[in-house]
Amino acid sequence: MLVRHIGDYHFLADAESGVTFRWGKTLEENPPFAPVPELADISISNRCSKGCSFCYKDSTPNGKVMSVEEYCQVLDSLCSPKYGTIFQVAIGGGEPLEHPDFLNIVDETVKRGIVLNFTTNGRLLTKEICTKLKGKIGALAISVSSIADLKKMRYAIDCANGMKVNIHYILSKHSIEEATEMVNGMYNDLLREINAIVFLTYKPAGRGTDGLSLEEGKELNAFIDAVKAPKSSCKIGFDACFVPMLIRGKTVRNEMVDACEGGFFSVYIDENMNVSPCSFSGGKDDYSLKEYGFYDIWLNKFKPYRDRVVNGCKQNCTAHKLCRGCCPYYPQITSCYQR
Ligand SMILES: C[S@@+](CC[C@H](N)C(=O)[O-])C[C@H]1O[C@@H](n2cnc3c(N)ncnc32)[C@H](O)[C@@H]1O
Repeated sequence: MLVRHIGDYHFLADAESGVTFRWGKTLEENPPFAPVPELADISISNRCSKGCSFCYKDSTPNGKVMSVEEYCQVLDSLCSPKYGTIFQVAIGGGEPLEHPDFLNIVDETVKRGIVLNFTTNGRLLTKEICTKLKGKIGALAISVSSIADLKKMRYAIDCANGMKVNIHYILSKHSIEEATEMVNGMYNDLLREINAIVFLTYKPAGRGTDGLSLEEGKELNAFIDAVKAPKSSCKIGFDACFVPMLIRGKTVRNEMVDACEGGFFSVYIDENMNVSPCSFSGGKDDYSLKEYGFYDIWLNKFKPYRDRVVNGCKQNCTAHKLCRGCCPYYPQITSCYQR
């Protein structure tokens, strides 16, 4: 169990279950930010052969790869000299399983006592690789963008050998009706042995065009209604970008919701060792680890970003205290902004 008390910031994290607790001055209060990030989202390459038409990273088969040495530098920079290292990393890319040294990257992470999760398109997930990964991974996420995709991925899910598997499902104009059916329990046979479906808000970035972003309307309302009483056989979860819609839709108790964590509790580091609040910053609020120390970036350079986001939303809304407002990078993906 990782236990961290730093001033008014308190954090407990259990590596076994992945459950984390965070509180501020009192149990009812949220701390303004984490002096040591809780999670780092690390892109170990921009190499991927799948060629998804909507890829926000615009990944290609020859994309840049972060070396193991660079990865170790990243992990070591994340270790605070005063408070120790971060709780977990989420490895992405590019396709992590196309990284030539992926297994070394896993071992370097485990060696440092950091929980490792990764996201994959599932195409290279075999029984053999899963046997090598067993016992070293917090959870693995397999990405799908339709039910047809989920059907194709069943073989990969069956390879997982008891590891915790989540499905990352992109919520776009194309996929939202199937997502509603999934929450309504229509595909429970395809979801067997899945821990959770995590819905990712579609972003119009990289190869992703604006036309597929979610919009207010009956499809989004039907999805939000389904979420209020889910019938799926596994848990459901959401990326931070969907939180304003959950709060507005009165979907769950507000105190159960975590607003956007990027730059406050989590951080993104790309394959060039650039640090930014999240993977969608598109070059804004980026600082290179080759130029600055991590904790200079986290504690000082990100301060103006945090001030901007906290004071950003001027809407008169019951969720104002909890929600950090619309996405600072792609405001059009937040339904309140559209309003
Ligand atoms: C860029 S991929 C990299 C990891 C791995 N190759 C995979 O497919 O999971 C990371 C995640 O971003 C999602 N993604 C890709 N393009 C997106 C977009 N335009 N909007 C939202 N999510 C997107 C993918 O579905 C995947 O879950």
